[in-house]
Amino acid sequence: MNLLSPLALRRHTARCRVVFGPHETNLGDGRAFSARHVAYYRARAEGGAGIVVTEEASVHATDWPYERCPDAEVAGPGWAAIAAACRPTGALVVAALGHSGGQGSSAYSQRELWAPSDEPEVNSREVPKVMEGADIDAVVAGFARAAATAATAGADGVEVNAGQHSLIRQFLSGLTNRRGDGYGADRSRLAREVLSAVRVALGPDPLLGLRLSCDELAPWAGLTPELAADVARELAPLVDYLVVVRGSIFSVAETRPTGHHPEGVNLELAGTIRQAIDGAVPVVAQGSIVEADQADEALAAGRCEAVEMTRAQIADAALVAKLRRREIPRPCVLCNQWCRVRDNRNPIVSCIADPRSGHETGDPAEPASGPPTHAAAGRRRPQPGAGVGAEGGPLLVVGAGPAGLEAARVAARLGLAVTVWEASAEVGGMARVVARAPGHHRFARLIDWLADDAVAHGAELVTGQPATADDLAAWAGPVIVATGGRPAPPGFEVAPGAVVLTPEAVLAADDAARAELVPESVVIWDPLGGPIAVGVAEALAWTGRRITFCTPDPIVGTLLSLTGDLPGANVRLQQAGIAIERRVLLRHAAPGTVTIEHRFSAERTELEVGAVIDCGHRLPADGPGPDGGPVGAHGLPPVRVGDAVAPRTVGDAIREGREAALALAPAGRTAAAVAVAGGGAT
Ligand SMILES: Cc1cc2nc3c(=O)[nH]c(=O)nc-3n(C[C@H](O)[C@H](O)[C@H](O)COP(=O)(O)O)c2cc1C
Repeated sequence: MNLLSPLALRRHTARCRVVFGPHETNLGDGRAFSARHVAYYRARAEGGAGIVVTEEASVHATDWPYERCPDAEVAGPGWAAIAAACRPTGALVVAALGHSGGQGSSAYSQRELWAPSDEPEVNSREVPKVMEGADIDAVVAGFARAAATAATAGADGVEVNAGQHSLIRQFLSGLTNRRGDGYGADRSRLAREVLSAVRVALGPDPLLGLRLSCDELAPWAGLTPELAADVARELAPLVDYLVVVRGSIFSVAETRPTGHHPEGVNLELAGTIRQAIDGAVPVVAQGSIVEADQADEALAAGRCEAVEMTRAQIADAALVAKLRRREIPRPCVLCNQWCRVRDNRNPIVSCIADPRSGHETGDPAEPASGPPTHAAAGRRRPQPGAGVGAEGGPLLVVGAGPAGLEAARVAARLGLAVTVWEASAEVGGMARVVARAPGHHRFARLIDWLADDAVAHGAELVTGQPATADDLAAWAGPVIVATGGRPAPPGFEVAPGAVVLTPEAVLAADDAARAELVPESVVIWDPLGGPIAVGVAEALAWTGRRITFCTPDPIVGTLLSLTGDLPGANVRLQQAGIAIERRVLLRHAAPGTVTIEHRFSAERTELEVGAVIDCGHRLPADGPGPDGGPVGAHGLPPVRVGDAVAPRTVGDAIREGREAALALAPAGRTAAAVAVAGGGAT
């Protein structure tokens, strides 16, 4: 048994043991599945996934947790379109069904939330209505109706959610179920009623999976692994597979942990539950499984029969196909930057490593490597400073950060002759630097993957090679400028002799160099609230230094709410004994002192510190190729991408690098965006 071997499930066979798990995408057309959904799932099915589980659909009108959350009442045509698109590829299609109960939102439904008890929801603080008997019956009927709709639409089965965000878990848990009736005396009664009704509605053939939180990380009243083992034993005979997840109302971040958690974070828990149910049904493990080797080890160790690799397939839709071809998939970096969709921007699912993710209907597919094109025919390795005169000319990419590497990689795949000049000694730019901060190590995997793919397709990478304006003017082919950013001048007064360090200098230094560079006491100034300052603090934590973290915000790392790391980051900094000054502005740095000012009271405080690490914003680097810059010998001005345009995220850099390369595609070389029939009811 290995990851790529088939898995028998009821009367079905998954062609491999890799599952694309249920997740919010925001791709909906209102509350119906859309053509974008169809293309998104079809890409993973074509990419070899064994089971594709669709975005969870609400089974009752009381549940509308986010604007474009699918509604089972209108999901039939969408499920049919997804099944029609995916099943011919050999993937099984399973429709996730659920009700968020007290963890929903009243904003869209404009009505009360339903839950087992009137326990205020920990995160929204909303007090739900205690469900009455008729309400429970209506929800059970909703599950059954939705299951019948999914089966009729052609889905291979359904997966019922009793995971982190679910009414069924709220009934199973002592945290939220304080009922005095039969559903309180027997907390698994609702789960049994739902699963039994769903089985009847499905008929004998379709699959019935259960997603179960097996550790609510709230042992005072919640489901512990021991209690969950009993629940799993009781419910396993009613289902065809069990997905073991972890987390609950006090641990929402556990739903999709970042790189600060170990990879395969729930594998041990999956093994515990698998042992408890003694092989009654296959167990699917889940949680930051992003490397095939780890998944294979978990299967071999008997922890599970299959694995969800959800974000891994958001990062590379062709993950399984690549594993079969013994290629290395594009790595998920566990950053959660673009795949988390539930925030006030209401974004759609995507991925910093593959910005086409979620945009399958609009963005062209990855160019398959092919024979050299006309432009590349007869290419030779161009030497630094000398353009070659091949027709179309070779592409010069200046800067080998994520933007430059992606441009080079895609252009090389298109068959163009590509040379990359990187001024520093190693490729990766800021992403390589960030990878040195704790929890961000997988950024190095992404950089290496981009560079390896570029080289594998014939690009030449030259490090230690800056480009001058004259070089660009003399270059015979197109030029892409991806020279990244530079620190902006400090936004505070700096007296002569004050030590002001950049985060990149601190992170890039090894231990010995850091000992020289960073004094015993430092202020980390973070006017941005992103991951960098927190990363610097964590890199210096536990080294005996006296660290004071200064933020203008009421909480450290405000923007980390977008990745789910906000609570984790605050806990880690607090546990490391880092002093935190909130709601302050940094006004003045002098030798040995720093002056901060409270934002509301204007009270000033002088801190005795040896240096400031200024984690403020960045500006485009002073590289070649700004507006009106040199025009290459081929007559086109250089194209700027990534931080060289405006310092932003790795994802923006990769997207722009790719777009710039695709714009150079020889005719007929880009694969078209996916055209699919509409999946929605609209
Ligand atoms: C964008 C996104 C949305 C998610 N939404 C849900 C959800 O609605 N319900 C759910 O049970 N899990 C949800 N998850 C969790 C995934 O199903 C999966 O368990 C999680 O991503 C961890 O597995 P992974 O490390 O393989 O990605 C979501 C994950 C992501 C990335």
